[in-house]
Amino acid sequence: MLVGGAEAKDDSSKAANAMMAQGVPTELKSSLPDYGPDFPVSPIPAINVASVPQRSPLRYPGGKTWLIPHVRAWLAPTQPRPRTLIEPFCGGGIISLTAVCESLAEQCFMADLDHDVAAFWHAALRHNSELCHLVSAFEPTRESVSALADQAPRGVLEHGFRTLVLNRTRRGGILAPGAALTKSGENNKGLASRWYPDTIIHRLRNIEAHAPQINFCEADGLNLLEVIAEAPGTVAFIDPPYTAGGKRAGKRLYSHNQIDHRRLFKILAQTQVDFLMTYDRSQEIAELIAEYGFHAVKVVMKNTHHAHISELVITRRPVFV
Ligand SMILES: C[S@@+](CC[C@H](N)C(=O)[O-])C[C@H]1O[C@@H](n2cnc3c(N)ncnc32)[C@H](O)[C@@H]1O
Repeated sequence: MLVGGAEAKDDSSKAANAMMAQGVPTELKSSLPDYGPDFPVSPIPAINVASVPQRSPLRYPGGKTWLIPHVRAWLAPTQPRPRTLIEPFCGGGIISLTAVCESLAEQCFMADLDHDVAAFWHAALRHNSELCHLVSAFEPTRESVSALADQAPRGVLEHGFRTLVLNRTRRGGILAPGAALTKSGENNKGLASRWYPDTIIHRLRNIEAHAPQINFCEADGLNLLEVIAEAPGTVAFIDPPYTAGGKRAGKRLYSHNQIDHRRLFKILAQTQVDFLMTYDRSQEIAELIAEYGFHAVKVVMKNTHHAHISELVITRRPVFV
């Protein structure tokens, strides 16, 4: 289990503090911007993400560590224990890793369409020791990071390592084209401010220990969902990219940021798979929830600019209401 000081040092603890929502006063709730019909507030607050184990070596923009208590509350009572958790838009994969490490599911099946992200997962799962070795030998300087960014990787190990370095040295962990390098970084430590070799290696080793239970494929998440959602004992955690008519951050954060949201809802409605899905609150999504008869609660939290935002947690059955 990954806990303790090294974890607390991680970049996510900063995002954590920003996202901390220990219950929001009524006057603030009523001042939230109106993004479509309202939903009940989840009985489970968003947590300070420094208080749960950080298991992903990637610092993922839009990462869902704050959702872990919801995922535990959703999966822990499920009998028999789910055989497979599928995560068709996995990014840093924090929910899949948590499910496997906490025995909430026997195994996970993750997918992402991003070729760089895919290289990281292939390297972490198939070349773990070599990847750890590269991490421990690397000195992140402006020159070494630029050299790595400019050079075409010669195989999946080099490519996965490159993804990891760029993810941890670019501002906000953003890998999409146009992302800038971290400037002052945490505590003015510059580029190295989010490069914690020991912590990263610890997380990589943990992935290796659970590798037989972790599956990854570079694939379209919607296609994957269509193909395997009906397998017996399967549950799905779904965190799709969302750009809400170009207003939200998804466009800037991910190279692949457009999916057919109606198709996603339709696939879920046509299968019996038990799912937990998250979305920004918007009129479009509220209408799809109503149309397909799903249940939703909102989780109110502060974003990095200390504004209160709400994310929706959508389920087929009324898990949180
Ligand atoms: C919101 S992020 C997921 C973050 C993840 N839940 C975490 O905690 O790290 C969405 C992810 O979906 C991926 N993606 C976008 N379109 C996709 C598609 N059609 N199929 C699979 N993955 C896709 C993006 O590359 C991105 O990694």
